[in-house]
Amino acid sequence: MTRSLWKAKAQKTNYPALENDITVDVAIVGGGITGITSAYLLAKEGKKVAVLESHELAGGTTGDSTGNLYKMVDKRLHHIQSKWDEKTARAVAESRGAAVDLIENIAKEFDIKCGFKKVPWYLFSETNKKDETIEQEVATAKDYGINVEELHELPIPVKVSTAIKVEGQAQFNPAAFVRGLAEKISSENCQIYENSNVHHIEKGENLVLSTPKGKVTAQKVILATHSPKGIYGVQTAIYPFREYAVAAKLRSGDYPDGIYWDTEATFHTSMRAYKNDTGNYMLVLGGHHKVGQEDDYERFFKKLEEQARKYFDVAEIEYKWSAQHYKPADGLPYIGESSDDGIYYATGFSTDGLTYGVLAAMIFRDELSGRENKWADLYKAGRFTPIKSAKNYIKENINVAKQYLKDLPGKAEAERFSEVGIGEGKVVEVDDEKWAVYKDETGQVHCHSAVCTHMDCIVDWNDAEKSWDCPCHGSRFEATGDVIEGPAFSPLDKRDVKSRKNS
Ligand code: FES
Repeated sequence: MTRSLWKAKAQKTNYPALENDITVDVAIVGGGITGITSAYLLAKEGKKVAVLESHELAGGTTGDSTGNLYKMVDKRLHHIQSKWDEKTARAVAESRGAAVDLIENIAKEFDIKCGFKKVPWYLFSETNKKDETIEQEVATAKDYGINVEELHELPIPVKVSTAIKVEGQAQFNPAAFVRGLAEKISSENCQIYENSNVHHIEKGENLVLSTPKGKVTAQKVILATHSPKGIYGVQTAIYPFREYAVAAKLRSGDYPDGIYWDTEATFHTSMRAYKNDTGNYMLVLGGHHKVGQEDDYERFFKKLEEQARKYFDVAEIEYKWSAQHYKPADGLPYIGESSDDGIYYATGFSTDGLTYGVLAAMIFRDELSGRENKWADLYKAGRFTPIKSAKNYIKENINVAKQYLKDLPGKAEAERFSEVGIGEGKVVEVDDEKWAVYKDETGQVHCHSAVCTHMDCIVDWNDAEKSWDCPCHGSRFEATGDVIEGPAFSPLDKRDVKSRKNS
């Protein structure tokens, strides 16, 4: 079973589910770093706010992330500069730096026990072939006044040919930060609800959000849900991927804090040290694939464990988990109002979501308070930049079209329920319909339609997370059908196992 170190080490939460109808200025869907920081900043501006989280606070991507905060971006600043221009890359570094500063100030102001600390960021190459990436990043960073030190060894036991170091980046426990901040801001004017899944948003003079037991009427809505809930054009310009992490408890070795990134293109990993009163850990993160388009999900954990054991004296892999991110077509996130309907979203963060999530909250605060934000135009939600997006846009949307073609009759993985093993899920062809069939540990069979409730793609079984994942826009569902994340509002439709002959 997967479990993130951050969620395990953070304080537990116990917010009520929404059980009546309320009216607020701003309803925020999603209680991760984007949602809770937005709630904090908007409540500070005098807005009445409600946060509606479908599971637990920081229970999604925030709690499954790296816990790293940095000005750089996962694609490197020099890529932003070559795709856009120097002014844009400079603004990206500046805006991300402001977001990291805000996190630091909030953690200090509220004395949030999230282990926030300033650490160096390293980029290294183990082979001479990749030195070009480092050289370009050195040149770009220096142009923007980011102090870069060139090295030939690291403070962790990884042999490198070249490396660079940038001081003043940061790390924390993101789940502890979000839950700690929520505790400080929860009040009559900033209401927080857990287990309150929004399954419908009615647009009109006001926006009305429905949860199972209560409704929220709001003037504005922020979809702090990664990909926005529902159907939006931006979903053709963000591409869902999963990434993996292991936390290796060390038998020996005590390494300095830092964010360590390698430049290996095929299995790019990042590492970071973590320690607490139970011991020293190294976190190894990496490996990525399109959501719902993988045959062997467990192989990523195996590879990360191999990497950890190659470099460190590992006693055991205590935690392993995976997380979702959305790559934007033109390299920058989409943040702001979707059209003129009062619904705002923030998405396409790639693997840089903790920093971009807080930046999004800063932009929302200004936009919803009628103030100018100097970065709002750069990240504007409705932008479409054909030249900068074209290559990724065409490639990824052909990929989505192929997923629909796979839905043709005769493409199921099994024809009988007996072909599904214990603890396993398979797509089974039943009377010309595709069913998502899961057999739990007790042998009970759970049947649902395999048709994703977002836009009708066929879901795929994820054997690492025991979930049904949609290959088109990244919706994910529990083995028992409920929505975990992604743009789908509704669970997979239930099917009755007893009435079927192939059982
Ligand atoms: Fe869009 Fe499934 S997420 S069709």
